[in-house]
Amino acid sequence: MDFVRLTINGKEVEVQEGTSILKAAEQAEINIPRLCYDDSLEPVGACRLCVVEVKGARTLIPSCVAAVTPGMVVETESPTVIKARRMLLDLLLSNHPLDCLTCDKNGDCRLQEYAYRYDVKHSSFEGEKHNYLIDDSNPYIRRDMNKCILCGKCVRTCAQVKDRKVIGFANRGFNTKITPAMYTELAESDCVSCARCLVVCPVGALTYNNLAGKGRTYEIRKERVTCSFCDAGCQFDLNYKGEQVIGVTAGAPGEGRPLCLKGRLGMELLYNDNPPTPMLKKDDQFVEVSWVEALGMEGLLKKLMEQD
Ligand code: SF4
Ligand code: SF4
Ligand code: SF4
Ligand code: FES
Repeated sequence: MDFVRLTINGKEVEVQEGTSILKAAEQAEINIPRLCYDDSLEPVGACRLCVVEVKGARTLIPSCVAAVTPGMVVETESPTVIKARRMLLDLLLSNHPLDCLTCDKNGDCRLQEYAYRYDVKHSSFEGEKHNYLIDDSNPYIRRDMNKCILCGKCVRTCAQVKDRKVIGFANRGFNTKITPAMYTELAESDCVSCARCLVVCPVGALTYNNLAGKGRTYEIRKERVTCSFCDAGCQFDLNYKGEQVIGVTAGAPGEGRPLCLKGRLGMELLYNDNPPTPMLKKDDQFVEVSWVEALGMEGLLKKLMEQD
């Protein structure tokens, strides 16, 4: 494997050939803001927040999709770069509810983080804002598309698992939105409530219904556990508030890893001090079920009873 030397913000960096500028900067402990990039997904260069200045280039370069070249000289926080990022954030805020005071993502929201970092307090644009109904038809997942910044990460992560592709982009321009097929609510779609889309969503557009209002992000401590129900070895996070586990959330959404609802519910039953009533979809409707049914253990239970 060949290596490439370049300079980022005056620092000499040596990385493997083919590395993106964004990852090379990370290696030099330089953080470049990103909204549509995620380590678990193919980069698409959609949001443009990660743009950097490259000496000799005529335009700003999206660092998540551009590979390093030998001798490259990169500036990640030049006045031109900062101006471009402020403009992008200004545009995003122009159609955003800005209800950080009550948003469950407050404290862990990329839009909030970057607005603070680049001192964008409000939008200088005036115009129409979306007024979509909040979709909480699925007992586990809450979708507030008024907060969606159209990064597309939920769409890409859903498509990473075989036979999913539950959500996608619809419409154009101002009316572009993320939706299940035929504009249905999530509960009517083929969604399997795996919550991998929640893991990658950078803002408060996708949140856990069962954790709504239970605690601010800075009050919650996460502890990673691995599910042993099957060989996939999916990872989940126990969410502690004080000494109590108040809920289990999906962990790393690696390629093909199902992060199935059964596994998450199993972790709820094992660790949650006050586990939620399990709900499963039957005849297109979510209904309360027993834990035995939720965890698919009817067969095992029947066998055990027959042994008696
Ligand atoms: S999504 Fe982020 S910026 Fe929007 S209201 Fe929630 S915390 Fe604030
Ligand atoms: S919860 Fe899972 S299946 Fe449902 S939309 Fe999100 S990623 Fe797709
Ligand atoms: S719902 Fe979240 S992850 Fe999906 S496009 Fe909107 S902001 Fe991105
Ligand atoms: S993070 Fe690079 S374009 Fe979005």
